[in-house]
Amino acid sequence: MSEKKHPLPAGVGVVVVAAGSGQRLGQGIPKARVLCGGRTLLQRSLDAVIASGVATHVVVVLPQDDAVLAAVVSDAARRTGGPAIVAVTGGTTRTASVRAGLDALPPPTAVVLVHDAARALTPPDVFRRVAEAVAAGAPAVIPVLPVVDTVKVVDGDVVTATPDRGGLRAVQTPQGFDAAALRAAHAAGGPADPAVTDDAMLMEAHGATVRVVEGDPLAFKITTPLDLVVAEAVLARDPAASRIAG
Ligand code: CTP
Ligand code: MG
Repeated sequence: MSEKKHPLPAGVGVVVVAAGSGQRLGQGIPKARVLCGGRTLLQRSLDAVIASGVATHVVVVLPQDDAVLAAVVSDAARRTGGPAIVAVTGGTTRTASVRAGLDALPPPTAVVLVHDAARALTPPDVFRRVAEAVAAGAPAVIPVLPVVDTVKVVDGDVVTATPDRGGLRAVQTPQGFDAAALRAAHAAGGPADPAVTDDAMLMEAHGATVRVVEGDPLAFKITTPLDLVVAEAVLARDPAASRIAG
């Protein structure tokens, strides 16, 4: 693998999607507001974005009329001497929320990274790896990890196939894109299709080559109560677990 570093373009936008309701976490509040190690998931995600140093603009996509999360965003915008940070309202699907974020990025943005606020412990290095791979010329870049479980294809309660695990990868965010290509893929795809679970899928459907870079176990998505227990345990062992200093 080439170690050559590519300079980042002048305009790198990061869209942080935080408009979900957190049904599976089951706390009765939007997931981005849930505390982990004393800070909200959104605060932790924004800390990582800012620490990565890749962003010139950050758009945070929030649930409608969420004053708590709006205050988190304005506080981050006030504290950082770095990127411009703004908040917009999301939609009923993740895809619609990403699209709202894209619409709020300034037009000269050349590269865009789309990140789940729910991946609150993502190390800043992952942002840099993804942004650099896009800067090196890939139109779409996703961080991945090997799949550790054996995965089955089922029809009802019957197994119909066992794909070779060696060729499978689990996908994380941030996902990075040529901004114009991602806008085109979103314009062609439908925001309401629940089968669209990430932006790389839209790019694949649009005919783009999607490249992978190494993800990080800490970029796991906090989805269930068990995930939150794991995240709290990680932070209890190492309060700088998101490696903001590094
Ligand atoms: N998201 C969003 N807008 C939506 C749905 C999801 O911005 N309409 C964001 C979430 O806030 C999260 C990321 O997309 O950061 C990944 O979604 P997920 O983990 O599914 O979060 P929720 O939709 O909040 O959780 P659940 O599906 O359990 O309700
Ligand atoms: Mg969801």
